[in-house]
Amino acid sequence: MKLTKILSLAALFAIGQNMYAQQTYDFELDTKKVGAPIQSTMYGLFFEDINFAADGGLYAELVKNRSFDFPQSLMGWYTFGKVEVAKNNPLFDRNPNYVILSDPGHVHKRTGIENEGFRGMGFKKDATYRFSVWAKNMNAAGDQKIRVELIDSKSNIIGGEEITINASDWKKYQVTLISTATEDKGHLRIFLASAGSVALEHVSLFPADTYKGRENGLRKDLAQALTDIHPGVFRFPGGCIVEGTDLDSRYDWKKSVGPVENRPVNENRWHYTFPHRFFPDYYQSYGLGFYEYFLLSEDMGAEPLPVLSCGLACQFQNEGEHCHVPVGELDSYVQDALDLIEFANGSTSSTWGKLRADMGHPAPFNLKYIGIGNEQWGKEYPERLEPFVKAIRAKYPDIKVIGSSGPSADGEQFDYLWPEMKRLKVDLVDEHYYKEPEWFLANASRYDNYDRKGPAVFAGEYASHDHSTGKQNNFLSALTEAAFMTGLERNADIVHMCTYAPLFAHVDAWQWNPDMIWFDNLRMMKTPNYYVQQLYAHNAGSNVMTLTRDKKAIAGQDNLYASAVYDKGQNCYIVKVANTGTEAKDIKVTLTGGKKGASYTVGDCVTMQNNDLKSINTLDNPSNLIPQKTSATIEGNVLNIKAQAQSFNVYKIKL
Ligand code: AHR
Repeated sequence: MKLTKILSLAALFAIGQNMYAQQTYDFELDTKKVGAPIQSTMYGLFFEDINFAADGGLYAELVKNRSFDFPQSLMGWYTFGKVEVAKNNPLFDRNPNYVILSDPGHVHKRTGIENEGFRGMGFKKDATYRFSVWAKNMNAAGDQKIRVELIDSKSNIIGGEEITINASDWKKYQVTLISTATEDKGHLRIFLASAGSVALEHVSLFPADTYKGRENGLRKDLAQALTDIHPGVFRFPGGCIVEGTDLDSRYDWKKSVGPVENRPVNENRWHYTFPHRFFPDYYQSYGLGFYEYFLLSEDMGAEPLPVLSCGLACQFQNEGEHCHVPVGELDSYVQDALDLIEFANGSTSSTWGKLRADMGHPAPFNLKYIGIGNEQWGKEYPERLEPFVKAIRAKYPDIKVIGSSGPSADGEQFDYLWPEMKRLKVDLVDEHYYKEPEWFLANASRYDNYDRKGPAVFAGEYASHDHSTGKQNNFLSALTEAAFMTGLERNADIVHMCTYAPLFAHVDAWQWNPDMIWFDNLRMMKTPNYYVQQLYAHNAGSNVMTLTRDKKAIAGQDNLYASAVYDKGQNCYIVKVANTGTEAKDIKVTLTGGKKGASYTVGDCVTMQNNDLKSINTLDNPSNLIPQKTSATIEGNVLNIKAQAQSFNVYKIKL
């Protein structure tokens, strides 16, 4: 090839490069028509007791197996000296076991019990802990004493108090302990400190500083992290936990209310669901039960969305009708749903409304939604859902019912169930998708052509799973979720709710990843996925706006994904742009259709950007991936943006 030709090719290449560098992407934000309202429930939370999310996590109780009613009654406890488990004349009929500590028979010997917590207990220096126990003196001769100690991982005592057990009947004793050190693998030790014997039941230890300072409360940092999202809806208690491995182990909400001491222990299916992540000490205390759930929803300003069993045990684990409640025998299950609505909303003179009032909340919780069934499929599901829908409609016509489209985002079951949900006229259909990052990008326009006449969509469980990194909560997963969510937002006329899943994971005891928030016994780490959810929830807006490029929705062309909303309260437009490409992009957003002479200013602009898609936050470095301020300029009615490579951006345009 001649040199001149080579040069001219090089020149062409350079011009091409230059043109590429200067290319701008023109978006149009049509301000003439304010679109469909965005539901206040749009961005919410999904909670399930998986990964030690409740016991050992959000529920601030530090003692595992506090009532000795795990099937192995001393699981979680070390015993020494003369300790026996008894259950005759129990104090709590649904948690009958208790322990008796007796004199070991020599002045130098010791009797006692020590609890290991949930992979240890977290104590903070100078913090106060509330210890309580139900006890009775088993020795007629005189008062008995126990000594209660906080222990660090090297067996040093970092807090202690003595309690005199002065009654021969069961009585609750309480004492506060102050930790002299910070320790994340602590234990609680209880010695018999007199030469007689005592019976102990429901041994409990909580930090005094719980969320809102409540007794039987929630871990403050974790509950605050949820609140800080500003969730619009709060789904509970799962997930597969709703269904149970069998009907006996389903989540039975009635067992989760009333005095905590008498809430029976339930199996937690996540103890054995994945044999390669086996956690034999994982049970549900129901200490964080439906009352605590409704309270937290109220505290966060989120609509509660309970999901109840439809009479089908987990279909992944059970094949055949014999595992489930026969269709004609669902009455007590249907009644459970009606009673839950009464518990939440009923007058204080109703049976369940009275229990709510007795527990401390006479005012109704104003429940508006209920889900029936989790990931169900086959004809077994609609035929069971039907009697629920009928009964709920008849008694509570204002309650919105949510049905399921099965465990997958598409396929045979999905295609069968959607028409069935329409036939049954449920209000919303729950869709689940745990998929690869590519799927999230390819599905950014998933809802653009959904039927607008049928039930609305609840994207009830989703997360981008980057299998190449063992499903880490890395930036790739967060960015692809952000890109996908532009499609949820654009279609907010039919997508009324979405909740990332799962929510929590204990770093030492997790069964499923990725998860939105990771924690150990003292610390917490918000993942980039958390921040994406938070950016959407904080910038949800009140109405969908039409944002296009070349008259088309922006859903992946040139690696750009974008949506826009109007926010009535702040009188501003909010534009969200994900750039999943490796080049920065200059974008011009022209606001068309506005009043003549309308003037706009740029409000707060935020970005999440990283050149390394595999990067993550950790407990030691929780701020590696966090939203940062960015800027944009506005000239007349044109917003100029530089969307950096691999970034998710939120821009506010004030009117
Ligand atoms: O979120 C974890 C599990 O994923 C849920 O329990 C279940 O609904 C889904 O399969």
